[in-house]
Amino acid sequence: MKMRNKFRKPTTLRCNAGSRCTLSVILWTLVGFLIMFHLRYMVQHRAVQGGEDIHLHTSYHPVFRELENVEEESIKVPPPRKRSPRAEKRKPRRPTTLIDEFLDESSQIRHIFFPYLRTAIDPRKDAGNDSFYYYPGRIWLDTDGNPIQAHGGGILYDEMTGTYYWYGEYKDGPTYHAHKRGAARVDIIGVGCYSSKDLWTWKHEGIVLPAEETDENHDLHKSNVLERPKVIFNKQTSKYVMWMHIDDVNYTKASVGVAVSDSPIGPFEYLYSKQPHGFDSRDMTIFKDDDGMAYLIYSSDDNSELHIGPLSSNYLDVTHVVVKALVGQRREAPALFKHEGTYYMITSGCSGWAPNEALAHAAGSIYGPWEIMGNPCMGGNKVFQLTTFFSQSTFVLPVPGVPGLFIFMADRWNPADLRDSRYVWLPLTVGGAVDRPLDYNFGFPLWSRVSIYWHKKWRLPSMWTAVSGQK
Ligand code: DGJ
Repeated sequence: MKMRNKFRKPTTLRCNAGSRCTLSVILWTLVGFLIMFHLRYMVQHRAVQGGEDIHLHTSYHPVFRELENVEEESIKVPPPRKRSPRAEKRKPRRPTTLIDEFLDESSQIRHIFFPYLRTAIDPRKDAGNDSFYYYPGRIWLDTDGNPIQAHGGGILYDEMTGTYYWYGEYKDGPTYHAHKRGAARVDIIGVGCYSSKDLWTWKHEGIVLPAEETDENHDLHKSNVLERPKVIFNKQTSKYVMWMHIDDVNYTKASVGVAVSDSPIGPFEYLYSKQPHGFDSRDMTIFKDDDGMAYLIYSSDDNSELHIGPLSSNYLDVTHVVVKALVGQRREAPALFKHEGTYYMITSGCSGWAPNEALAHAAGSIYGPWEIMGNPCMGGNKVFQLTTFFSQSTFVLPVPGVPGLFIFMADRWNPADLRDSRYVWLPLTVGGAVDRPLDYNFGFPLWSRVSIYWHKKWRLPSMWTAVSGQK
């Protein structure tokens, strides 16, 4: 029997007087638009409260304007080398692109991507007015005059000593292929560590986690793979904890490794490796949030998606919690950072050591949903933008005292000679409207744009030192 529920509220808008109804619909729509407009205004123009801080809307601040003033590049592809007409007939050559030139070891313009040693950044020389400049792609010498070896790295700011520590893959020795189809590789040497107070002059602190020379069954045996080491400090245990990608020569072990030390300059004790949450894990990073919680972010399911999960309170393991993000997007090289309560991430595509297009992502919670905001790279030229300036993300470092300004750290891999891979450090800002209107906020972006600006040469605004007192 059908019962009529007299208490049920009508679910459709009932309207008897037609014109009055239309008017109220129009009015409410208008109110809705006004609220959305106001929200959007607030997001873009939210000023940071409290005295010293710089206004969030970066473009208006002279410091940012200078960094946002990108440089253009007009690199010409050299004319094709002469070949015999017979060779040309057998295999006609397609026109080469800048990317082909970049990957070609014998390219006539190789020095543009991998400038000679004589142009190296050398903090030992009194560079006068030229001090503290970053030259993306140039060799960068440490205080002993050796090229810095900290690839796929990350930076820890140690509050106790007011020092920055840069950890990364110490690559040396010949680049070779373990077998015909294997990726270019060098044997593991270990994790290099450098210290600095000014983010420009780096002192080599040694190899803080060395390779294992003899035991072939050890994860760190030189014939294996150790990539993308990152270190964070655990306040509870007063330990420095390192997480890294551990693999075998064929990248089938797909695990993370954990090491620990009492000191930022090691030695680190290697604890173990595992597939986190039972999943394969390749490119990875760790992120320490303001509340002390830390997270592991890794490419999984054959690099088709990212996984994000919190670390245990001592940072030595993952917990059972894990979420999937960017499913089916095939992203790697994650570099995560936070600004004004929003989480941002830069990722790369998957193309081995060859460069590809970066994407910026944003989320209100570290667990997502993660939105894709588009390519953050500005300046250079189209090819520079589509190749992340011929590099791949590894870390994003907040610049203390300058909210909204970060250093984007990337690796310009040299697949022919991996130890000669270079660093591309560029200013990254958060501010302004995103390019792509995002789906579920009615076209009003809840996030600000992430932009990475190409410069042949740039330096941090002097105020970062004044405010943070780092130098
Ligand atoms: C791309 C990754 O981002 C690098 O860390 C490295 O694993 C290479 N692939 C190896 O081809």
